[in-house]
Amino acid sequence: MIKQQLARFNRLELLAQATPLEKLERLSAWVGRDIYIKRDDLTPLALGGNKLRKLEYLGADALAVGADTLITAGAIQSNHVRQTAALAARLGLGCVALLENPIGTADANYLGNGNRLLLDLFDARVELVDNLDNADEQLQALAERLRGNGKKPYLVPIGGSNALGALGYVRAGFELAAQIEDSGLAFAAVVLASGSAGTHSGLGLALSEALPGLPVVGVTVSRSDEAQRPKVQGLAERTAELLGVPLPASFKVELWDEYFAPRYGEPNAGTLAAVKLLASQEGILLDPVYTGKAMAGLLDGIGRQRFEDGPLIFLHTGGAPALFAYNAML
Ligand SMILES: Cc1ncc(COP(=O)(O)O)c(C=O)c1O
Repeated sequence: MIKQQLARFNRLELLAQATPLEKLERLSAWVGRDIYIKRDDLTPLALGGNKLRKLEYLGADALAVGADTLITAGAIQSNHVRQTAALAARLGLGCVALLENPIGTADANYLGNGNRLLLDLFDARVELVDNLDNADEQLQALAERLRGNGKKPYLVPIGGSNALGALGYVRAGFELAAQIEDSGLAFAAVVLASGSAGTHSGLGLALSEALPGLPVVGVTVSRSDEAQRPKVQGLAERTAELLGVPLPASFKVELWDEYFAPRYGEPNAGTLAAVKLLASQEGILLDPVYTGKAMAGLLDGIGRQRFEDGPLIFLHTGGAPALFAYNAML
């Protein structure tokens, strides 16, 4: 039912094929457990990542309402802002981004390399702000200002995580379910980073219908379970409502919040060890803010027997461009 409803929504068809689901042979041998990876780091826009899936829906809506500028917000090293700016360039739209420095660093690479460097190449206009504590209001105020200058801004929320954006991960969930069915394997869980929550809510919603019983474990990157849970649950509810379907009874929010310390945007020893392990064992680049923390959770979860028996899937949501901004911490 969700799948049929999803087909009613317009999306930009930038993602022509399913991203690969592949076994991590050397990592699996190293940890003694079969681990597969879903390569959403390989989406085909500006170094990849999960945001393209959300932006396929948000970008289609922006064009439908005749917008000429995408506006959004995030950290100076936001992957979301990078992908939004790239999409704006691709569609011939302007882009204005509000950026904050969530770790208060003066490191030159954090301030100017990695994702931030790319924003200039895409011709995005950047406004630095002290914080994004009221991001929706700050974006509304920016939109007002731009309208005053004759622009037609389209507001892309932080992380692209509203119900429309989450449809991208509902679609991804059905894509992954088909790949799982083709594999013939009985997976024990899917593990992913849970941040602004669109990825977690959308994927969880689709899988609760397509493969009920398959746990979707969100490793938090910025919040406690208590703070993250209502975000994931609420967004899943709003996404189901947008689709015109009830939230499946099997939808369940599972969160692990032991891996994000000390705070958003700052890696810990486990994060860095996971980044190093995937690079050295598989030639795959994780990132220090999201996927390094999520993979640290997966590996620790294996060690602590937090999963049922069976192979695991790690959703690689991208983020490697930030490595060049975090070289001082690697
Ligand atoms: C690389 C990467 N992984 C995961 C996430 C988290 O996705 P979401 O914000 O949908 O929870 C982000 C969000 O910015 C990201 O950039």
